[in-house]
Amino acid sequence: MAAELGHLARGAAAILCLLIFHVAPSDSHAQVRISGGNGTCISREREALMSFKASLLDPAGRLLSWQGEDCCQWEGVWCSSRTSHVIKLDLRNTYMPDYDDLTVRYIMDNSLSLSRDEMSSSLAALRHLRYLDLSGNDFNGASIPVFVGSMENLRYLNLSSSQFNGRVPFQLGNLSKLQCLDISSKNYCHKLHAADLAWLDSLQLLRKLDMSGVDLSPVQDWVYMVDMLSSLRVLRLVDCGLTSTLSGASKSNLTHLEILDLSSNLFKTSLENNWFWNLTNLKELHLSRCEMHGPIPEELGNMTSLQVIDLSKNDLVGLIPSNLEKMCNLKVLIFDDNNISVSIGEFINRLPRCSWSTIHVLSMDRMNMTGKLPILVGNMTGLSVFKASRNKIVGTVPLGYGALGNLTVLDLSNNELNGVLKKEHFSGLLHLESLDISHNSLKMDIEPNWAPPFRLKDINLDSCLVGPHFPVWLRWQTDMYTLSIRNANLDDVIPDWFWVTFSRALILDVSVNMLHGSLPANLQHMSATSISLWSNKLTGPVPWLPINISIFDLSSNSFSGSLPSEIKSPWLEVFLLANNQITGTIPSSICLSTRLRRLDISRNNLTGDALQCWKESDNNTSVSRANSTDQFGSVMSILALNNNDFSGEFPKFLQSASQLKILDLSYNRFFGTLPKWLPEKMPDLEILRLRSNMFNDHIPNNLTFLLHLRYLDIAHNNISGTIPWSLSNLKAMRYVYYNDDYDYAFNSPVFDESMSVITKGTTRDYTFEIYKLLVILDLSCNSLTGHIPEEISFLIGLTNLNLSSNQLIGEIPSKIGDLKQLESLDLSYNKFSHEIPSGLSALTSLSHLNLSYNNLSGVIPSGPQLQVLNNLNYTYIGNPALCGYPLSKNCFATSTDAKQSVNHEDADHISYLYLGMGIGFVVGLWVVFCTMLLRRTWAIAYFQIIDKLYDEVYVRVAIAWARL
Ligand SMILES: *[C@@H]1O[C@H](CO)[C@@H](O)[C@H](O)[C@H]1NC(C)=O
Ligand SMILES: *[C@@H]1O[C@H](CO)[C@@H](O)[C@H](O)[C@H]1NC(C)=O
Ligand SMILES: *[C@@H]1O[C@H](CO)[C@@H](O)[C@H](O)[C@H]1NC(C)=O
Ligand SMILES: *[C@@H]1O[C@H](CO)[C@@H](O)[C@H](O)[C@H]1NC(C)=O
Repeated sequence: MAAELGHLARGAAAILCLLIFHVAPSDSHAQVRISGGNGTCISREREALMSFKASLLDPAGRLLSWQGEDCCQWEGVWCSSRTSHVIKLDLRNTYMPDYDDLTVRYIMDNSLSLSRDEMSSSLAALRHLRYLDLSGNDFNGASIPVFVGSMENLRYLNLSSSQFNGRVPFQLGNLSKLQCLDISSKNYCHKLHAADLAWLDSLQLLRKLDMSGVDLSPVQDWVYMVDMLSSLRVLRLVDCGLTSTLSGASKSNLTHLEILDLSSNLFKTSLENNWFWNLTNLKELHLSRCEMHGPIPEELGNMTSLQVIDLSKNDLVGLIPSNLEKMCNLKVLIFDDNNISVSIGEFINRLPRCSWSTIHVLSMDRMNMTGKLPILVGNMTGLSVFKASRNKIVGTVPLGYGALGNLTVLDLSNNELNGVLKKEHFSGLLHLESLDISHNSLKMDIEPNWAPPFRLKDINLDSCLVGPHFPVWLRWQTDMYTLSIRNANLDDVIPDWFWVTFSRALILDVSVNMLHGSLPANLQHMSATSISLWSNKLTGPVPWLPINISIFDLSSNSFSGSLPSEIKSPWLEVFLLANNQITGTIPSSICLSTRLRRLDISRNNLTGDALQCWKESDNNTSVSRANSTDQFGSVMSILALNNNDFSGEFPKFLQSASQLKILDLSYNRFFGTLPKWLPEKMPDLEILRLRSNMFNDHIPNNLTFLLHLRYLDIAHNNISGTIPWSLSNLKAMRYVYYNDDYDYAFNSPVFDESMSVITKGTTRDYTFEIYKLLVILDLSCNSLTGHIPEEISFLIGLTNLNLSSNQLIGEIPSKIGDLKQLESLDLSYNKFSHEIPSGLSALTSLSHLNLSYNNLSGVIPSGPQLQVLNNLNYTYIGNPALCGYPLSKNCFATSTDAKQSVNHEDADHISYLYLGMGIGFVVGLWVVFCTMLLRRTWAIAYFQIIDKLYDEVYVRVAIAWARL
């Protein structure tokens, strides 16, 4: 939506500029191309153009017509009918992809670019040029050529978005006839800058100036400099690093200024008392993302010509002023992302009545507004866009809104609305294209045979009560672009027409419902790039994937049968089939999906040698190919194959998975040795789970060079040998993860599917956010021998350590007490001997301890936390030589004397014990409780950052929770 408005605005500005140029007075030259003229081109100018062409790369062949004698016939070249001089050169790349728009996948490269470092100066020969447009091309960081400053007849100069870099040449100040100057740039790699704006002084005819994206931060007097340009109609200085908006003058010279756009400059000032309030003829005022604070000032009421106000993304508070009654031209009002914090009814009530029929955009997302939706919005007959999402609006949706015949966008999502929406709420919305009422407590009650008057492009009904039946009234909405009906209580089969009606939709999401039945065998006709059906009750085989799909999520259903025999979707990035009953093998064609970032086919019944995407021949050239991005796995960050029946050796293709962060092969039948190339080939690995396989041989020593590894689980394999002493290299385990690490923790790909962790003796499902706070080393149930390396005490981040069921000997390292974060420690079923180190009692976070079945001896240490644990389980069973509380075996002699004193001591001990238990309990509980609390706070902060994901994660957590 914002992008659409942006497009609109940009388009309008471009047209305006053209208009300005074309109606420019005193233009004795005709602007038309001479057609049918024979050889009117002036040869010197033709040569200049030829030599300019020679300096360009033109992969799209846009200059193919640039041949032959008459250059006036060439594409983009216009000559004067009177003098034959070239007066206009328009090489604008009209296909300018908007990089904000991620749905644009195929960027057609229509750009012209330079074949050398600098632009040929031959154009300088076009002395009569009045119009030069090179915008939208890719001059790849070259500087704006100084010769432009010598084209003194120029009226129109557009070099925008052309990847120019470096200093804005002050020679532009020679272009005294210039009426339109656009050197704006949206590009972040290349940036123009200007040390001063003194050169602007001579451009007195300038009607449009756009220097957006040009760094003007050193220019302190910019207000003063632009205020000289008394002919200006349009001034755009978006994202220029400007800081001040004050001017000394009480009256501005810009009496003709109609459009002022200063968005994305961090003025950090109050909205009151700024120079622009003097510009009372303004029609458009754009001040988005300016860090403006304070109330919206009364001065606004004087701007009676104003049509467009964009004050979004600031820190403004309170109502709009009450003196707006003369503002009868208002069309577009954008206040999103401010902390207005008043009732939406009162706010809208202050909009002047005379503009009710002219306002067509009213956007009030995320303004912390309260109260009910005002009925009067139903009287704003011109309204085309009404947005009030993410506020705290309560009550029902007024029926009158259903009469807004011009409404195209209605977004009331994420509020506290309730009540029932009936067809009357929509019956007059003839032009509705986008409807978002998600995340309220709204119920849809619409008869199935209702025929809506609109053709929707986007609909979001997430978390509304839509079901149990699939909404049949959507059947004729064949222009749909995104459809989302997640968590909407749908308990139905997905109707057959779904796959026809929405075959051209790009994003389809009906996850978290109770949809059942099977899918069509083949979805290749679908245009979708994203299909999410996770958490339903769908059955039958996995269909053939849509050709252009990039996200395909069928997790947590009951799909069965084997995978489609070919997976040929070159754009596939996220492929999630976890938690189904899929059998058979993975088709080898998946190896063509070289863009896969996330593959999760865990918890199925898949068999065979997983992912044979590595040819031995690759091995020889692995050096050159390891970095190549056309290799399967090269961009993969999460791979989960766990809980299947895969066999074979450690998958070799992982040698090219240099971006892998999470690898889970657990609960399969993989065998062979653990490869030595892990640290070299997967240096970013954070989570490695190989649990319950048949890997054998030693733990490779260099495994400890995985500097980001914080979760290592190789339990239940046949690993022998000793624990590498170089453990202390595991840097990520030497770090205690507090809540402030929040950002650090979320540099990783988000893992919103829960994973199960065996800890504290039970299996829990953790979502990845929580996962990130665990530091786990689990080597249990192998045949490890030797001592625990002393270095283990360096891994102070460890929250879970499990070395149970090995053949480890010797003492428990005395410094184990340094592992202050330990919540769970299991050393059971080994051959540890000697005394239990007293440091153990320093582990105040410990809530699970198991030392059973070793050869430990001596006195059991005491301490508040241990008292709690001792009392809860069989921590010490199977160590015959241990004595002291909580075991019944006494550590002291048995003489009656001693017995008495012991009895006496016991009495003391017991009262101490109760006290200790009390404290221990409180401490223990408190630790758990606070951790939860803190984690929840982060989770919330995090969710606010990635708000779309919020819903997903929330729902999944809720589901995981419910399952527990
Ligand atoms: C939202 O408004 C309420 C008053 O209505 C205020 O107490 C609260 O602080 C505001 N929220 C934020 C995030 O500023
Ligand atoms: C896939 O994308 C290409 C390029 O955008 C498009 O031409 C083609 O029609 C799409 N295929 C389907 C089935 O929509
Ligand atoms: C340690 O590992 C063993 C074997 O995998 C398991 O049975 C036990 O529950 C684990 N201990 C803890 C505390 O999780
Ligand atoms: C401690 O370990 C032993 C042996 O593995 C086991 O029998 C016992 O249940 C464990 N204790 C707890 C509380 O898990």
